[in-house]
This record gives sequence, structure tokens and C-alpha cells, in this order.
Amino acid sequence: MIPAAAAPDRAVDPLSEARESLRISLLDWYDRLGRSLPWRVSPEARACGQVPDPYRVWLSEVMLQQTTAAAVGPYFAKFLKRFPTVHALADAPREAVLETWAGLGYYSRARNLHAAAQALARDGFPKDEAGWRALPGVGAYTAAAVAAIALDQPANVVDGNVERVMARLFAVETPLPDAKPILRDHAACLVGEDRPGDWAQALMDLGATVCTPKAPKCDLCPWRSVCAAHRSGAPQRFPFKRPKAERPQRFGAAYWLERGKSVLLVRRPDKGLLGGMLALPSTDWRSDVIADADIQRLAPAPGAWRACGSVRHVFTHFALTLDVFAMRDDTCALDGEWTRTSALSGLPTVFRKAAERAMGAR
Ligand code: ADE
Repeated sequence: MIPAAAAPDRAVDPLSEARESLRISLLDWYDRLGRSLPWRVSPEARACGQVPDPYRVWLSEVMLQQTTAAAVGPYFAKFLKRFPTVHALADAPREAVLETWAGLGYYSRARNLHAAAQALARDGFPKDEAGWRALPGVGAYTAAAVAAIALDQPANVVDGNVERVMARLFAVETPLPDAKPILRDHAACLVGEDRPGDWAQALMDLGATVCTPKAPKCDLCPWRSVCAAHRSGAPQRFPFKRPKAERPQRFGAAYWLERGKSVLLVRRPDKGLLGGMLALPSTDWRSDVIADADIQRLAPAPGAWRACGSVRHVFTHFALTLDVFAMRDDTCALDGEWTRTSALSGLPTVFRKAAERAMGAR
């Protein structure tokens, strides 16, 4: 049971036994069972003096912002191979960065990463959380994570996993997102001067592997005996959430135009969704289905477009159904990024799905 003194809105003794015992049990669990991840310096290596590379830590945290550790692994390896240092990244053309990022989604991350690399290559790596926070694309979470992990500074690193762990440990019934400041304060009370980098990663691992959203593995949890949600008998009920509005649906058409062994790609405008990425030519994405009569009118070239079926893709703020149409025109004179169909790469996932659909229908 957690004594009331551990709650942040009361007077907290930073050396309270409850807090120390929570810290010791989680760090001990992390030493034994923490994940081995490609960007991570293990607790033993850290104890032997190995210092994390801030470039790798920053890159991994940006990739992990919206993506699981398992999905990030191969992208992290590919990205580091192509851009082994912050200078290599800063000097690369933006198109090369976007191409290497393709498939990870949230492409503003790649654009910001490139801009931030140029500042880092010029000015060096920041020495504290505030310095990291000032870089393009580095929000409160990423700045805290890099300060904790790369610099071993006692920053309060709070992502969705940590929020869930805190909501359960303290059985916070305020629903998210209103609960955010409460959960942040709870997490802050547990941050300490000892091993801040390992602490941040231990909390992340607990949330990702034990205190999971649907079926928490309480039997494996080092905090089982003190967790208020576990005691309630239904830990999975936490965190409480305000009901979300339903995701709107949008519709559009994408066009696969082949000429010889190539297909017509276009570069999307810098501003907006998938900004700066390669794409198939497509209509706007709207809330009503594109009428048959408009399919020809909105196509990049006139001709006998064949329907190849549709693909679905879920973005953060809407779900898209994209009808795919294909045509061959070996004399087409349109300008664009004509690209060998056998060497298509760098397409964001929604257009990769559309390309696969068109090629599958040939
Ligand atoms: N999620 C976000 N950052 C992470 C990290 N450094 N390790 C594991 N999971 C994470």
C-alpha cells in the first residue's frame, strides 16, 4: 500500500521509505529484466562507464515517438547505416532523409530531424533538457528522454506508457487527458539523482512489457504489492479515458500511370500531410466518395483508367479509403518523377499500399 505521503499534492518527503522502495524495486527489476535494444546502453555497460551516444539516443527517441520499439528496430539500423553521424545527416539532401524514413509515418519528424541535425552539426549537442527542447521537432517528452538517457540528468520522462503505469500505481480515476498533469506529478515524485537514465528506461520497459494496456502481467510486476489498481482487482480499467470522437472517414482516388518500365510519381507540397514525400498522383481527400464521373476529370492524364480496387489507411485524425486506378500510356509527356517500377522506394505507406494494389492488378 502506498502511504498518502507519496501523493504529489501533499507534502512529500523526497527520502520517504515508500518512494525509495519503489525506486529500488524497479531499478533492480530493470537490471535483471530490462530489454536489450539497439540504441540502449545496458545497466552493466553504463556502470562500467560506457556513455550513450547522444545522436543515437535522439534519433531513437524521435523514431519511438509514435512507433513501437519492435517496429523502429529495422528503421533505426537502416537510418544509422545511411547516416552514421549527425554530420552525415546534416549534409544529406532532404529527399534522401525522407526516403530513408519512408514507412515510419509522421513525416514531419523526418523534416524536423534533418533541420535539427543541421543545428547540432553547427552548434554541438546540447548539455541539458532546455537545450534539446529548443531544437525543431523536440517536444517536452523527447527533450526529457534525451536528457535522462544520454546525459543521465534527472528529467521527468512521461509518455503514454508512463502515464498508464502512474494511473495504475496510484489508481487515478480522473480520465485522460485531464489526468495528464496529475500523472506527470506522480512520475516527478519518483525521479531521483541516482541513475536517471536507467530509471527512465526502466519505467518505459515496465509500461511496454508488464503494465500493458489490455492484459497487464501483474504477476511479473515489481510493484504488484503496492499498486492500487492491482489491489482494486481490475488494473486494466486504468487509465480512465474521456470517450473519443469517432475518427472521420475520407475518400480519394490515386492514379498509377505507367510509361515503359516507369511509373509517374509526384512530390507532395512541403506543407501538410506527408509533406515533401513522394506519392502517386491523387485527388484531394474529402469526406464524400469521389463520383465515377470525376475519376476521369481529376486524373493526371486522359485515357482509359482501369479500376484496381481500393486501399485503406488510418491516419491520426482520419481514415482514408483510396480507390486505385491504373493506365499505361507509353507516349505520355507529363512532367514528374518517373520512377522504375522495379525500384520503387521511399513511398509513404498509404501510397506503397496503392502501388501494390495497382501492380497486383496488372
Ligand atoms: N519508448 C520511447 N523511448 C524508448 C526507449 N528509449 N526505450 C524503449 N522504449 C521507448
